[in-house]
Amino acid sequence: MSNRRTFAIISHPDAGKTTLTEKLLLQGGAIHLAGEVKARGAARRARSDWMKIEQQRGISVTSSVMTFERDGVTFNLLDTPGHEDFSEDTYRTLTAVDSAIMVIDAAKGIEPQTRKLFEVCRLRSVPIITFVNKVDREGRSVFETLDEVADALALDVVPMSWPIGLGGEFKGVLDFATNTISRPEGDSREFLGKRTLADDIPAAIAEEIELAQGGYPSFDLEAYRHGDLTPVYFGSALKNFGVAELIDAIARYAPPPRPQPSDAGTIEPDGKEVTGFIFKVQANMDPQHRDRIAFMRLVSGTFKRGMKLTPSALGKPVAIHSPILFFAQDREIADTAEPGDIIGIPNHGTLRVGDTLSENNKVRFTGLPNFAPEILRRVALKDPTKTKQLRKALDDLSEEGVIQVFYPELGGQWIVGVVGQLQLDVLISRLEAEYKVEAMLEAAPYDTARWLKGSDAALKAFTDFNMATLAKDRDGDPVFMARSAWDVSYQQEKNPELVFSATKER
Ligand code: G4P
Repeated sequence: MSNRRTFAIISHPDAGKTTLTEKLLLQGGAIHLAGEVKARGAARRARSDWMKIEQQRGISVTSSVMTFERDGVTFNLLDTPGHEDFSEDTYRTLTAVDSAIMVIDAAKGIEPQTRKLFEVCRLRSVPIITFVNKVDREGRSVFETLDEVADALALDVVPMSWPIGLGGEFKGVLDFATNTISRPEGDSREFLGKRTLADDIPAAIAEEIELAQGGYPSFDLEAYRHGDLTPVYFGSALKNFGVAELIDAIARYAPPPRPQPSDAGTIEPDGKEVTGFIFKVQANMDPQHRDRIAFMRLVSGTFKRGMKLTPSALGKPVAIHSPILFFAQDREIADTAEPGDIIGIPNHGTLRVGDTLSENNKVRFTGLPNFAPEILRRVALKDPTKTKQLRKALDDLSEEGVIQVFYPELGGQWIVGVVGQLQLDVLISRLEAEYKVEAMLEAAPYDTARWLKGSDAALKAFTDFNMATLAKDRDGDPVFMARSAWDVSYQQEKNPELVFSATKER
């Protein structure tokens, strides 16, 4: 069985993703990396515009994928950009992982961004391990947290560990599997190792634990791997409690590379042919060099440097001479890679998000959707004679996955959609730098968009009545431009023969 574990961390800003990442890498023996991740976290908070982000580019490309090893298991941790750089990339990264860790703040529980990312995981039944962070601070009761996860996300929860007191009372974390306690010594912030001291737990907490062990189902690997159940670990990323247990859990329970659906049937990871798909493209800011790094998730076969693969959109083979592997803090040139690994492929715009790469050019991976935008804006030109250039730019950038574009059925103003505000800044600066188009973004009266699916007759009937709310996407597919979430459910109810979809398969 493969020793690869390819996963992402999903969380709301400030829950502790950066701190946990740092500690995971430390535990994985990549100590030199920790400072860098930290620097990035701090830089991320400080930076405010696209140029600044580009200055960080060297770092951020490196930490888009972090690979570390422990006890013979190779972990590929994919970064899900949050904060200001929350974007469709954040969602798409989740199409390239086999499992996720959901980090929640013990005091805050499930927050909006956690929920959004969780929903994307659910679309693909990505199994989730929950890490309740910051138990060294005052938080909600453990039962309350567990019940919230269960109710909010409609998941079975299984506590795998238990904090011995919270906040000021915090005395460590009891791991159920090993019956060991990780505890601080005095007020030390150091992790001082595990001891088998389960007998000196305060009576009230011993009672809680007994209740918990009787009251929640026991861990069921199948249910977890189906995405129906989440094991819950408690800890403190900052004080390094419960992190070792978390890594052990990923190694032990998280699935190895999964088969991937394609138009030629399911492609198994142990297939001989090298196949993979692009889930993210990172552009270089220098407009003179349109070089980009495309991130490919390897699905099957053993990749070897110099190998020729055919990108589905290009249709002819290209030799992958300088692929990048993301081992430790350096970008290393990859010689070989296994299913589950991520390879960075430098290119000049030939590789697009959603492309399949393969040796025989016979498969196309499916299940790599576009996600409904959450911010919509009208695009206005400063110079109206530049309409053609604008259209080309919007088509290109949407193909690259930077934005989505919608062409309304009525009226001439095109609409762009994104899931994170920063993408709009990226759009404006790239329009200017690469296409010499000066544009402005104006408020649009829409909140979100839904792809419409149904019979021709049903679509026509809907279109006849709702022309003013309809648009076409880049591929010419019909899209309902919704004023609100309520609008979507109202129309869905009125038109049961149509599907109003929040995702679109390429
Ligand atoms: P993020 O990437 O999810 O946004 O969160 P990050 O790790 O940056 O953590 C957010 C804040 O929470 C940081 O404090 C961090 O030190 C703190 N934190 C993370 N894990 C724990 C924990 O287990 N216990 C406690 N008590 N705090 C934790 P900050 O003051 O905003 O930043 P910093 O100046 O300390 O870096």
